[in-house]
Amino acid sequence: MKIDIISILPEMFASVLSASIIGRACSSGVLDIQIHDLRNWTDDRHRTTDDYPFGGGPGMVMKPEPVFRALDEIADDGDASTVVIVSPQGTPLDQKLVKELSAKQHLVIVCGRYEGFDERIRSRADLEVSIGDYVLTGGELAAMVVVDSVSRLLPGVLGHEESALDESFSNGLLEYPQYTRPASFAGLDVPEVLLSGDHARIAAWRRAESIRRTAERRPDLLEDAELSESEREFARRIIDETE
Ligand code: ADE
Repeated sequence: MKIDIISILPEMFASVLSASIIGRACSSGVLDIQIHDLRNWTDDRHRTTDDYPFGGGPGMVMKPEPVFRALDEIADDGDASTVVIVSPQGTPLDQKLVKELSAKQHLVIVCGRYEGFDERIRSRADLEVSIGDYVLTGGELAAMVVVDSVSRLLPGVLGHEESALDESFSNGLLEYPQYTRPASFAGLDVPEVLLSGDHARIAAWRRAESIRRTAERRPDLLEDAELSESEREFARRIIDETE
């Protein structure tokens, strides 16, 4: 997958994108990430990327021309590129959207700074994405969240032992509790079933704990999760007990 990121703070990305799993994916060629300085597409001596809002009001607005020029150069006009704006006004990012984005060939992510974008910039975007209901000082951290979550779903990025198949949200549920050695520590014991070697019992326990945890912490997720009738009944009981 190719990912281009357009930002006025390109230096923010280096450590995050070169470290660990994402760094390895870039070195191996599974991922090609290019960071672009938006100021390269300005045309004044001060390399201005923002201006005062028409109509007055606080803060500055991101100018349209540099972003348009950058996209003319970086994004393909056809279907090959998906232009994503990150902003608090976007579609909330969840694992379903992450999965959809991971199927794209080429993402072009535009990061905002200042109070917001000139509205005309939105006409160039295929999608606007928010990483949550809070406001960051700019889109860079949000872009990194998108890149990280999307990259790890690409074939060959996670090793076998880091598999994305059995984790929170992959089946619409939160993940079951995990333990490692020692079996007994600080007076806290690992559930006996996990030491039993009985794979069917372990799978059943994990499924039940996954449903229990989701019912306790994120009952909103259960609506879309695939549960049998008896699992749904179990979840309802947990919710009733939690209330
Ligand atoms: N830019 C500022 N806040 C943001 C958020 N919550 N999500 C995406 N981009 C942002």
